[in-house]
Amino acid sequence: MRQKIVAGNWKMNKTLEEASILTSELMGMVADEVKGNVKVVLCTPFPYLYPIKQQLGGNARISVGAQNCSEHDSGAYTGETSVGMLKSMGIPYVIIGHSERRQYFGEDGKLLATKVDKALAQGLTPIFCCGEPLEIREKGTHEQLVKQQVEESLFHLSAEALQKVVIAYEPVWAIGTGKTATSQQAQDMHSVIRKHLASKYGAIAENISILYGGSVKADNAKELFSCADVDGGLVGGASLKSREFVEIIKGIS
Ligand code: 13P
Repeated sequence: MRQKIVAGNWKMNKTLEEASILTSELMGMVADEVKGNVKVVLCTPFPYLYPIKQQLGGNARISVGAQNCSEHDSGAYTGETSVGMLKSMGIPYVIIGHSERRQYFGEDGKLLATKVDKALAQGLTPIFCCGEPLEIREKGTHEQLVKQQVEESLFHLSAEALQKVVIAYEPVWAIGTGKTATSQQAQDMHSVIRKHLASKYGAIAENISILYGGSVKADNAKELFSCADVDGGLVGGASLKSREFVEIIKGIS
């Protein structure tokens, strides 16, 4: 059985107070309304990771994740945050290779492979993102590109290490645009990713959670999550509102 996960990527939003209010609303709603075995991850901005983790206490359902990490262990890298620092705060997840990092910060597959290694070495679960921009989808080479992204940053891993990775497929044209992939488009690509993993790693590909991201909302979550190879979601804008986010989580539980 693959782990079902719904992660909220808050990106660069909210004050500390707003973050704390959202968290407390979510704690109540998830406890009261969410059934089934789904993990909820709140990927907060770096400064809020520790206070939100403290606020969550030992919450069995909800945990926190970072949105990025440095590829370096420590040293003179002003403004960066290492995986060791995340580990020292007890942060279990880290998003690696979000398309906004690839696009605005020039992160490439080789760099992301290093970040994945650093996360795994410290026992964090990487949520590794892949996904094609619009022009690639229009050219029809999206499967090729996404397979390449997965290969470049994950195929150096041992089978044992790969099993600790979560993958998020986020077509860039669906992020923040309100234009969601259809459930068929999502399923097709998730299946391509899983088969590609299977071509190298065999049956363990069946154990890897592959999340969908890109304009997931309360009214489309259930359909997307019902696809055979979609194991949850990575949610941006809609994770900033407690009611909407909980309705999304309920779409899989
Ligand atoms: P939206 O849900 O706002 O489209 O963002 C998706 C995303 O980038 C999650 O990482």
